[in-house]
Amino acid sequence: MALLEARDVVSGYGDAQILHGVDIDVEQEEIVTIIGPNGAGKSTMMKAVYGLIDCWEGTVIFDGDDITPLRADEVTEQGMCYVPQRENVFPTLTVEENLEMGAYIEGSVSDADLQEVWDRFPILEERRTQKAGTMSGGQQQMLALSSALMIDPDLLLVDEPSAGLAPDLVDDMFDRLVQIRDETETAILMVEQNARQALEISDRGYVLDMGENRFEGTGVDLLESDEVAELYLGGA
Ligand SMILES: Nc1ncnc2c1ncn2[C@@H]1O[C@H](COP(=O)(O)OP(=O)(O)OP(=O)(O)O)[C@@H](O)[C@H]1O
Ligand SMILES: [Mg+2]
Repeated sequence: MALLEARDVVSGYGDAQILHGVDIDVEQEEIVTIIGPNGAGKSTMMKAVYGLIDCWEGTVIFDGDDITPLRADEVTEQGMCYVPQRENVFPTLTVEENLEMGAYIEGSVSDADLQEVWDRFPILEERRTQKAGTMSGGQQQMLALSSALMIDPDLLLVDEPSAGLAPDLVDDMFDRLVQIRDETETAILMVEQNARQALEISDRGYVLDMGENRFEGTGVDLLESDEVAELYLGGA
């Protein structure tokens, strides 16, 4: 049984239907990437899975439980975390306070949890008393990820982890995601614009277009598909 099974998800905003029956699966410890054009509904799908917006139709099964009707805070308690595309840290709180917020469900942050963050992202230790809003985009992204990992989730949803990063930091971010999966056994479902690089580290991928599934396969399958390359990866 897959860790996440989202089936025929229909959702949108107000009267505007954006998702027309989308399927996404994530197996235990997999890295899965959703790619597709701007406005395809990638972020909307993440929000529907996580319970930030309602599923109008369809089901979301997580770890064998039907979580379709649950709100985001309830989904978090089930062991799924979400890092939004924008505004994913508390800018006026320090690095350490942000990590405490990430751990709120479990109460407090242990020294061991903090040490794990500092080992993974040493720059955050240097900045531990700095307000998050004063840090670079890349550092904020590291903090957002680290905060989400504070509850040791089974599944981490990340919307565009490499957005706004300098090119040399993009590779680094993807390396970190692989490291997180390997070390914590957390499965990762991400949306990415750096589609090639994301697919290279992904077990599987999905192409969403206009609120529908267009292609799916292993990362390699999608990278080697002429059609996917031409339509969604900016040429072969
Ligand atoms: N809060 C909202 N209210 C109304 N419409 C929205 C809202 N958020 C997104 N939309 C619309 O839903 C559609 C899909 O948006 P979504 O953010 O899911 O796309 P995306 O695939 O993540 O795109 P991008 O690559 O630009 O992040 C777009 O037409 C967008 O304008
Ligand atoms: Mg988006």
